[in-house]
Amino acid sequence: MNIFVIGIAGKVGSLLARELIARGDHVSGLVRTTQQQEALAEIGVSGQRGDLTKVSARELAELIGPAGALVFTAGAGGAGTEATTAIDGDGVVKAIEAARLAGVTRFALVSVFPEAWRERNLGEGFDHYIAVKKSADIALTRSGLDWVILRPAALLDTPGRGTVALGPAERHEEIPRADVALTLAELLHEPRITQQILELTSGGTPIRDAVRANAPNR
Ligand SMILES: NC(=O)c1ccc[n+]([C@@H]2O[C@H](COP(=O)([O-])OP(=O)(O)OC[C@H]3O[C@@H](n4cnc5c(N)ncnc54)[C@H](OP(=O)(O)O)[C@@H]3O)[C@@H](O)[C@H]2O)c1
Repeated sequence: MNIFVIGIAGKVGSLLARELIARGDHVSGLVRTTQQQEALAEIGVSGQRGDLTKVSARELAELIGPAGALVFTAGAGGAGTEATTAIDGDGVVKAIEAARLAGVTRFALVSVFPEAWRERNLGEGFDHYIAVKKSADIALTRSGLDWVILRPAALLDTPGRGTVALGPAERHEEIPRADVALTLAELLHEPRITQQILELTSGGTPIRDAVRANAPNR
């Protein structure tokens, strides 16, 4: 499958790229620097230069090209509320429009648990992040695309365990980024999972089984 990843140079994005390449997919994605482009070329990934906040939806569609699926795992991180709105919010809306223009119907979005760490009172910036992510979820659910929203728990850089808990409602705990990437790769290859929001945290079910268990029997 041809898969275009927005956020491919990020932590989840680059783990996903490696996993998809290993499965034999053709992978490309949006990058901001030539260094990222060169590093990705070494693993067989075609990086397309562009800044999500600067390209138009039409320009983004041209960079996406004839992909079979689009993954959005970009994020502003701690860059402030304006950047969060521009990337995690408006960026998703732009990507939805670009997907339509490029004729890409499958769209996987990395979101967040709406209740993530709310008990810690992390401040306005974090509340804004959660609200923007939820707005992006709403936009995608109304897009008419073949979408899937994955809400991972707090991300860890520890090695993947290969087992998870995945379902429409899970407890917000923690999950290695490697397991998020593997789950995304499985979801992209499970076409029966469409128009579903799935929450993901650490657990004991092998990732392939966890994904299949969420697929309707049709
Ligand atoms: N941290 C958590 O605990 C947590 C929990 C649940 C969900 N999430 C979500 O998980 C996703 C992936 O997280 P991660 O840790 O992999 O993030 P990350 O390593 O910070 O990667 C984010 C990527 O977004 C790209 N990006 C940012 N602004 C951009 C722009 N204007 N144009 C193009 N690309 C841009 C970055 O590009 P550069 O490499 O050029 O900077 C980077 O590659 C995010 O959507 C995040 O909100 C995070």
